[in-house]
Amino acid sequence: MKSRIISLTLATLTTFACHRASAQAKVDFAKDILPIFDQSCVKCHGPEKQKGKFRLDTKEAAFKKDKNDNTVIIAGDAAKSDLYRRITLPKGHEDIMPNEGDPLSKPQTDLVRDWINQGAVWPDGVVSKAASNTASSKPRNEPVLPKDFKPGDAEAKAIAKIGQAGVDVRPIAMSVPWREANFRLQGSNVTDAVIAPVKDVTSLVELNLANTKVTDAGLLAIKALPHLQRLHLELTGVTDAGLANLKGLSNLVYLNLYGTAVSDAGIEHLAGLRYLRNLYVWQSKVTEEGAAKLKKALPELSVSTGWDLKSLEKKEEKPAEKPAEKSEKKEDKKEDKKEDKKEDKKEDKK
Ligand code: HEC
Repeated sequence: MKSRIISLTLATLTTFACHRASAQAKVDFAKDILPIFDQSCVKCHGPEKQKGKFRLDTKEAAFKKDKNDNTVIIAGDAAKSDLYRRITLPKGHEDIMPNEGDPLSKPQTDLVRDWINQGAVWPDGVVSKAASNTASSKPRNEPVLPKDFKPGDAEAKAIAKIGQAGVDVRPIAMSVPWREANFRLQGSNVTDAVIAPVKDVTSLVELNLANTKVTDAGLLAIKALPHLQRLHLELTGVTDAGLANLKGLSNLVYLNLYGTAVSDAGIEHLAGLRYLRNLYVWQSKVTEEGAAKLKKALPELSVSTGWDLKSLEKKEEKPAEKPAEKSEKKEDKKEDKKEDKKEDKKEDKK
């Protein structure tokens, strides 16, 4: 009698606990299975190590055939799948996976079983977080340069014209179509007219107009550059009105407005630039409140106001003339990485 009650209670409990499994609810790969692989398998079967020459971090890898034309997961048949056999072996067995530490729990192996029996559906593009940390897949929070980009017809001509002004519009790396242009060294020779041909250089990703004679009107030339990511306007005559021309630069990541007359009203034009991460407004009219307001619209933005620098200045008589270019770039990269991690964590929670 007693044992009957116990087994009844157990049965009820199990029905509660494994409701989805017993009801053969559809297993959700991303939610139910991938976290198991991530937690218990990928450290030995992922980007870093491929024990037994096997990877379990992407669909392609998990369903790869071995030399005998077998896959370890046989869709629709858990009983024939080596992967399921291994995770259900008794602890201490030679072939058990994971081959160290605790075996998977029964609810976990049941989920894997149901998943395989339901056809082992692994939606395209769903990858282990270990795999998505490597370069193979781009984090979604930075601009993506299209692979099939072709420069426009007018581009070569425009580059030649800019060359005549003494500025080399050069590729950012070997065998990529993307370019950068640095007008800074030509300084006061560079007027709105000089930069006008830039509008046809759609491959530009980085443009340095710092310390030139460029004005608000000149910014019309960059208004529609689709891939521009980094823009230096520090120490120019640019004002709030000019910043309205930057609204469409949807891939902008970095903007330097140090030493310009822009104010809080001007940077409001930037609120829609979702990839913007670094904004320099030191020695402009932007206030702490203005910066905070923009950060509300763009939470991942870091605004360098230089107010912290000012307190340093008091000690050091001579203020630094300009933010050091090289360290800026490194900072950017560090920032980006941090953001990636944040993104990942967010994704984990989902
Ligand atoms: C601590 C490292 C480690 C962990 C964690 C681990 N494995 Fe393995 N795995 C190995 C080693 C080593 C081999 C190769 C030796 C062997 O075949 O037993 C292997 C082989 C395999 C194979 C055979 C591959 C083939 O092509 O024959 C499968 C399937 C497998 N593991 C699945 C898993 C699964 C599923 C998990 C997570 C539940 C897991 N492993 C966790 C180390 C590990």
